[in-house]
Amino acid sequence: MFFVFLDDKRLDEWVSIERFLKKEEADEYLNENQETSTTATVTTQDLRSKSGSGAAVAGGGKTERTLTRTMRRKFEESHQMGGNRRPFDDPLVEQLELEHEAATKVKNIQKIEIGRYEIDCWYYSPFPDAYATAEKLYICENCLKYMRFPKTLINHQKHCTAETKRHGKLIYKKNNLAVYELDGEIDKLFCQNLCLIAKLFLDHKTLYYDVSPFYFYLLCEIDDEGTHPVGYFSKEKNSPDDYNLACIMTLPPHQRKGYGRFLIQLSYEITKREGKTGSPEKPLSDLGLVSYRSFWTLELLQKLKSSRPASLSITGLVEMTAFKREDIIDTLARINLLTIWRGEPALNYTPKAVDEHLKSFAGKKFTICDPKALKWPQK
Ligand code: ACO
Ligand code: ZN
Repeated sequence: MFFVFLDDKRLDEWVSIERFLKKEEADEYLNENQETSTTATVTTQDLRSKSGSGAAVAGGGKTERTLTRTMRRKFEESHQMGGNRRPFDDPLVEQLELEHEAATKVKNIQKIEIGRYEIDCWYYSPFPDAYATAEKLYICENCLKYMRFPKTLINHQKHCTAETKRHGKLIYKKNNLAVYELDGEIDKLFCQNLCLIAKLFLDHKTLYYDVSPFYFYLLCEIDDEGTHPVGYFSKEKNSPDDYNLACIMTLPPHQRKGYGRFLIQLSYEITKREGKTGSPEKPLSDLGLVSYRSFWTLELLQKLKSSRPASLSITGLVEMTAFKREDIIDTLARINLLTIWRGEPALNYTPKAVDEHLKSFAGKKFTICDPKALKWPQK
C-alpha cells in the first residue's frame, strides 16, 4: 500500500499498487513481492497522549526521551487548539515537533459511522493506538464514544439512550434544531471525544487533551428517531485575545446546509450578551475563511441597508454586531465600501452599492439562529 498526497489534502488516501500500474504489471509486482511485501504504515504515536506521565515516545516509538517540564510546556503551548507552529530555541523540542508533524501527516482513520451516516475522514486524528489502526470507527451519537466493532456499538446503545444520558445544558431549541452547551471541565470525556472526531476534519488545528478551559456548543438535528449531532464550536472560557470561537466543524454530510453560518451567528449572539466583541481564533482554514467572510459580509450589508448612510460609523457597526473592528474594516474594504478619511478608515457607500452586493445573496436560504430561542446564559 502507498499513501498518496494530493493537492487537496482532504483527498489523500491509501492506495494499492494496482492503482498505479497496468493490470499485468500489477500482477507481476504482486507475485514478486508476495513473500516480502509489507504494508507501509506510519506510527501515529501522539506525544501528548504520553505527556501526562512526563515521558514522550517519538520517532515511531524508537526513541524514548524524558521531557523536562519547560520542554513539555513549550511543546504543549504550541499544540493548544489552534496554536500556530512557532520556532523553538531548543533543538530537541524542535526535533520532537518535526517528528510529530511527520507522524500526523498521514490520515489514520479512514471512515467513521455515526447515526445513519458513514463518513470518509479527511485528516489525521490522535485516537488511541488500539483504535488508530481501525479502518472504520463506530460512534455513539449520544455520548460520542468510539468503538471498533458494530456489535459493540449495538450493545452499548442498549444502555446509552438520549433520555438518560444527554450531556450539557439545552440552550437553544427551535424547529428541528437544538444546541447544548457543555463545560469541558464537567463533561470531559464527551468533549475529548468531540475534539477527536472534529480533528478528523480539521487540518490546521492540533488537539489538546485539556478540554477544561473550553465550552463546547453542540448543534443537533431532532427527528422522530432522536437527537443527532451535526456540528459544534468550542470557545475558550477566558480568551486574552478576545477569541469568541476556537474551533468550528460541521460533519461533512451536513455541510452546506447553513449550519456553519448558524454556529457562527450563535457565537456572536453569545458575545453580544457578554457585552464584548470577538473574532475567531486564527489561523482559519480555507472553509472557515469562506464561511466567515460570507457571514460578515451579509451581516454588515444588512446593517448598512437598514440604516441611513450618514447615521452609521464603523464604531456603530461594532456595537451592533459584536464583530471586531478589524474584521469589519477588512470585510468592507473587500467590497469597496470603505474609504480613508483623515488617515482613518471610514464608511463610504450608497444604498445602491449595498443593494448590488446584496444581490449575490439573493435566493439563498439561511438557517437562522433566532436570538429569542437562545436561553443563554443559564445558571
Ligand atoms: N466550497 C465553497 N463554499 C463553501 C463550501 C465549499 N466546500 N462550504 C461552505 N461554503 C460556503 C457556503 O457557500 C456558505 O456561503 P454562502 O452562505 O455565501 O453560500 C458559507 O461557506 C457557509 O456555509 P454553511 O453551510 O453555513 O457552512 P457549513 O455548515 O458547511 O460549515 C465549516 C462550514 C464549519 C467551515 C465546514 O466547512 C467544516 O466543518 N469544515 C471542516 C472544518 C473546518 O475547516 N473548520 C473551520 C476551521 S477555522 C476555525 O475553527 C476557527
Ligand atoms: Zn453512548
